[in-house]
Amino acid sequence: MIAKASAPAKAILFGEHSVVYGEPAIAGAVNKRAYVTVKESECDKSIFKAPNINFEAELLTREKKYILRKGKPGIIRYILESVYRAHDHTPIEITLTSNVPIGSGLGSSAAVTVATLAALYRYHNIRFNKKSLAHDAHMVEQAVQGVASPLDTLVSTYGGLVYLSRNKKVERFKVNFNVPFVVGYTTKHGNTGKMVKDVRHLKEKNPKIINPVITAMGNLTNYAKQAILKRDFNKVGELMNINHGFLDVIGVNTLELSRMVYNAREAGAIGSKTTGAGGGGSIIALCPGKVDEVAEAIARDDNILKIHFTRKGVSSRVYK
Ligand code: PMV
Repeated sequence: MIAKASAPAKAILFGEHSVVYGEPAIAGAVNKRAYVTVKESECDKSIFKAPNINFEAELLTREKKYILRKGKPGIIRYILESVYRAHDHTPIEITLTSNVPIGSGLGSSAAVTVATLAALYRYHNIRFNKKSLAHDAHMVEQAVQGVASPLDTLVSTYGGLVYLSRNKKVERFKVNFNVPFVVGYTTKHGNTGKMVKDVRHLKEKNPKIINPVITAMGNLTNYAKQAILKRDFNKVGELMNINHGFLDVIGVNTLELSRMVYNAREAGAIGSKTTGAGGGGSIIALCPGKVDEVAEAIARDDNILKIHFTRKGVSSRVYK
């Protein structure tokens, strides 16, 4: 029996970092996906392969450890944690392919975790629904990272553009927001755990300054929600630019991120900001009618990806 699943990567539009302190956030599933296949192993060992990043490892499922055969470990901890929670230790082969570039900051770990869990549940004929899958995937991310908001795994499971409210209620936007974005990313990776800690530290040292900024970031996200509902792209762009400034205040921007943000604006983006944890990683630029110009401007120094938000969340099936 072969079980297959795929899940989309995500981009945070508003609310990174402030979401850690209970503020709202808006993120969307994008048209880049992780694909996972689970089948019986041809030998007596469990194997994980990711051919398009030339990675292979033997999984020691009981010990939650692995033996590296080739490539660089990265995503493997999410696979091990998922296997540990959803598999019974019989030898399996897991193959991952993905069109989410590594290091693009598009939350590939959540896409991989959601797809891996869905494929394992299908393989074992375990009943699940989107709510339980999003919850389990969040548990995996938390176990691996120490801290994780539920946003990435929610988006990778449900698809679409999602608003997470102050009281953790999830709303999916019904409005069509299928406008083109350009993601710019550097080869210098940010470390989400470290960035979250750095912001906490800054906040503890300067509570009177940083606390109101975090609240303002939350208010901004709520204005953005209204602008999205009205499909007011200019307003969304303006709020993205303000949000980038707030991210600067809390210290997560870098020279490379700001370079990409300003290159995008000069080339005609109506809004551009760091997306995700910062400290490296990626920016997102809203550029209806100017995608090629913006992509070209960012690509002079950095890497680009053209994306749009998609309603398609996790999908999975079994082949007997
Ligand atoms: O870097 P990413 O895409 O994993 O986003 C991190 C977003 C933070 O708000 C900084 C952390 C979180 O868990 O929400």
